[in-house]
Amino acid sequence: MEPGSPQPAPPGRAAAPRRGRLRASPGGGGFVATAQREQWSGRLGFVLAAIGSAVGLGNMWRFSYLAAENGGAAFMILYVFMTLGIGMPILLAEMVIGRGARRGPIGALAHFGGRSWQPLGWLFVAAGFLILAYYSVIAGLTLRYALHGLLQGFEGDAAAQFDQVSTGVSAVSWHLGFMAITVGIVMGGVKAGIERTALVVMPLLFVIVAGLALYAATLDGAGPGYAYYLSADFSKLLDPRVLTDAAGQAFFSLSLGMGAILTYSSYLDRSHHLPNESATIAFADFGVAFVAGLVVFPLIFALGLEAEVGDSTVGALFITLPHAFESMGGAGRVVGVLFFAALVVGALTSAISLLEVVVATAIDSFGWSRPRAALVLGVATAALGIWPALDLDVLGRMDYVAGNLFLVGGGLALAVFVGWIMDDPIGEVETGAPGVPWFALWRLLLRAVAPLVLAVVLYYSLAGLVSA
Ligand code: PHE
Repeated sequence: MEPGSPQPAPPGRAAAPRRGRLRASPGGGGFVATAQREQWSGRLGFVLAAIGSAVGLGNMWRFSYLAAENGGAAFMILYVFMTLGIGMPILLAEMVIGRGARRGPIGALAHFGGRSWQPLGWLFVAAGFLILAYYSVIAGLTLRYALHGLLQGFEGDAAAQFDQVSTGVSAVSWHLGFMAITVGIVMGGVKAGIERTALVVMPLLFVIVAGLALYAATLDGAGPGYAYYLSADFSKLLDPRVLTDAAGQAFFSLSLGMGAILTYSSYLDRSHHLPNESATIAFADFGVAFVAGLVVFPLIFALGLEAEVGDSTVGALFITLPHAFESMGGAGRVVGVLFFAALVVGALTSAISLLEVVVATAIDSFGWSRPRAALVLGVATAALGIWPALDLDVLGRMDYVAGNLFLVGGGLALAVFVGWIMDDPIGEVETGAPGVPWFALWRLLLRAVAPLVLAVVLYYSLAGLVSA
């Protein structure tokens, strides 16, 4: 376990009191105390790890697919509003709570809101657990496609191949393998595990995605591909499903509403300029999602596979694209391996942040050592993931419930918490960022705009669940 440098209490503010416990953790992981909390080594490490959490399967595929299905540029406008107007303020809210309390979601909510807010923290931890269980199944598939592509190339009959590997023993095995890697990294700790991984793999991901977009621009299908992706159909804006999709996607993509960014921020010192860092994270997340769309659609259109898109999100990712890579011969193999490698990287750094929420909670609340927490909770999550690995319908339902209900509901609760319950959120955010002119606007968005919009979204999401 990383000892972490003790953090001096900021002027005029005593170190946050722990809820009555300072004790040796039974697993031998040393004392569990706020003063010894692990720390990022600096701004770059934190920002890259947070971008790593945000950028994942959601960006590389789900976003462009939803955009194309839901009115292209029209969806994009709604999505940008959701990201800037609702997502970013809540991202900043999570950062403020985490850094201020210096503990995971349960302790942090209790710190600023009292014990009655603890159950919300438990809900966050449950959401992390649930999302990681199925996320790891899809991530395992990306790992399988990357390695098979590298060693054997992509299969001609991609649909039959997908049927074989997407459920059953194969899916379970790759899921377990992916979970093992995730657990190994989280065991390494904040600096040596999470931060080091992000520092190495995230720049790689940026380079791969940008390189693939440049390559895709040279393909014959580039023009029609871009048109399919971006042409605006404004009539879609009136469809409530498009609103719920845009909101759910914004929350999922920014890793909001379940304490992931909150937990990462609990390892920050008070010198950080949180508004700037939240903006960097949100723009990087949107940027990768947007550019990934510029990769995917030219590829599909270059090979005339557009009719294959549209059946199911996951299916199209693992059928249409591998089919395209196979048809393109040698170049397709290189492009395909790079594409799936970027997916693996994105998924891994996101999975790490999901597991970290649960692990940090066990360390904070039960005094477990990090290795013990990562191992026990990683095994429990892996076990739950066997269910969606055996049944894709279960996976789809878990994704809907987690993304559209848990995350949006969690975001709503966080907006209310920081907007109305927390004592001095502006004072808290001003630490490290004095004199930013739009803090009053931030508070207004949290108090009024976000709760209203999210309540509407939640209503339609629940209605969608009932009618499904
Ligand atoms: N943001 C990740 C993605 O886009 C998924 C995620 C959701 C990670 C919630 C952490 C918390 O793939």
